[in-house]
Order: sequence, then structure tokens, then C-alpha cells
Amino acid sequence: MALVPLVTVLLFAGSCLGSAPPTTSPAASAASTATRTVVVDGITAIYNLGDSLSDTGNLARQGATGGLLRYTTRLPYGVTVGRATGRCSDGYLIIDFLARDLGLPLLNPYLDEGADFAHGVNFAVAGATALNTTALAARGITVPHTNSPLDLRWFKEFMNSTTSSPQEIREKLSKSLVMLGEIGGNDYNYAFLQTWPMDGGYSLGNVTRMIESVATAVDLVPEVVQSIASAAKEVLDMGATRVVNW
Ligand SMILES: *[C@@H]1O[C@H](CO)[C@@H](O)[C@H](O)[C@H]1NC(C)=O
Ligand SMILES: *[C@@H]1O[C@H](CO)[C@@H](O)[C@H](O)[C@H]1NC(C)=O
Ligand SMILES: *[C@@H]1O[C@H](CO)[C@@H](O)[C@H](O)[C@H]1NC(C)=O
Repeated sequence: MALVPLVTVLLFAGSCLGSAPPTTSPAASAASTATRTVVVDGITAIYNLGDSLSDTGNLARQGATGGLLRYTTRLPYGVTVGRATGRCSDGYLIIDFLARDLGLPLLNPYLDEGADFAHGVNFAVAGATALNTTALAARGITVPHTNSPLDLRWFKEFMNSTTSSPQEIREKLSKSLVMLGEIGGNDYNYAFLQTWPMDGGYSLGNVTRMIESVATAVDLVPEVVQSIASAAKEVLDMGATRVVNW
């Protein structure tokens, strides 16, 4: 039965409920970096692919948000900045602090049409998985959305539409930081959720099914890692020189 608390911890580790809010705001850290106008390590843009830990507003713009994530589009999410931004936080996220510390503006979500993407784009979507819906369905796991950011569809779409040759993409990426993740936590979350008794009925049969879902999740690990590694390889092949997975 010791597995049950473990499942609980894992379930929320990648979700909104589990993300600890930052204790200082980027506004405060901006004050300390305001004088730093030099480009850090030649990085002039950040391209971020991830889930709720780094979504700065894509899911909110996709609409039709269900489940736990529906709460993130209204207060108290964003309460420390005065409005809900679509971030799964009361304020800012690690990706915001990273941008500030590199002397760059906060990353706009890709779906924010007309936003300034001169210093990067945020392709993260809350609830996103590392594996696509087809791969998860093959393991009996259904997910409430349609694609994984790791298919690089938006990333390539953006690179194509803002450059005129693969060489130009290489140059752009050589001055960039590509954040690949955190992603993959939700693949495990959804595996657990398949067997979660929503009405709180913890019978022996139900608890057994929950424990079995741990095995399903563990089985996913190699495929999740492979999916992140493939995306990393593809991005490096396109010309990225700095790729971070966390
Ligand atoms: C889903 O991912 C698998 C491998 O992980 C890949 O072979 C397949 O083409 C992908 N399907 C779609 C629709 O992207
Ligand atoms: C980007 O452009 C290249 C060549 O111009 C093409 O092969 C590729 O399919 C395009 N990708 C997307 C996502 O539009
Ligand atoms: C087991 O879980 C199902 C699905 O949530 C629920 O409907 C059922 O009442 C639970 N059974 C018991 C005996 O707790």
C-alpha cells in the first residue's frame, strides 16, 4: 500500500497543483538585471517546448480547457501580477526568470497572434505530453488534446515562416537557447488518471488497478526518453547549439 502515496505525489508533480509559485517576481529580478544590457553567452532568443511548467498562455488561447487546467485561466492564478495569464502559477514561471536573467523579454506564447517573437517563442502547452496521442492510445491511454510539442510542428512552422533558407535557420538557432522540456510528466499523469477512482471509491479492486497503472507508467519511460532525444537530435540537426532538457 506504500505505493498509493507515491502515486499521489507523482500524479501532481507535473500538474498545476504541484508547481510551487516563485517567491520573487521577475519585476523584482528585472531590477537587479536592468543594468545588464550585454547579451549573455551570445543568446539572443529562447525557444521553449514544454507543458504546464512553462506554458505562458498557449492553452488559455486554445480555449475549451477542461479538467484541472480550466482554473488556470482565472484568478487566483496570476494573482501576484494582477491578472490570469494562462500560466499555471500565482505569478511567473521558471522560464520567465530564465528570460530575465539572460536579459531578454518574457517569452510570448506562439498562439498570441501579432506578439513580438524577436527574442524567442514559447511553444509550451499546459497538459502536453512527450508522446503523441497515437502512441499513448496504443497503450490504452487517452489524452484530452491532439499533439505533442515534440513533433516540432509549431517550431518548424515558425522557423520556416521567419527565414528564407535552412542556412538562415541555422544562423538563427546558433544564437539561441532551445529549452526542450520539462515534458513527459503528463504522459505518466494520464497513465495514472486512467485508473483514478474519481468518486473516491478506494476498493481493493480499484487500488489494485491504480497500482497496476504505475507499471504502465514505468513502461512508458523508455519511449518518453526516446521521444525527447529524437526531438533534441532534430533541433540540433537544424542548427541549434544549446539545447537544455530538464
Ligand atoms: C506518433 O509518434 C510515433 C513515434 O513516437 C511516430 O512514429 C508517429 O508518426 C507519430 N504520429 C503522428 C500522427 O505524429
Ligand atoms: C519548411 O521548409 C522546408 C523547405 O523549404 C520544407 O521541406 C519543410 O517541409 C517545411 N516545414 C514546415 C513545417 O513548413
Ligand atoms: C471503483 O472506481 C469506480 C470508478 O471511479 C467507481 O465508480 C466505483 O464506485 C469504485 N468502486 C468501489 C467499490 O469503491
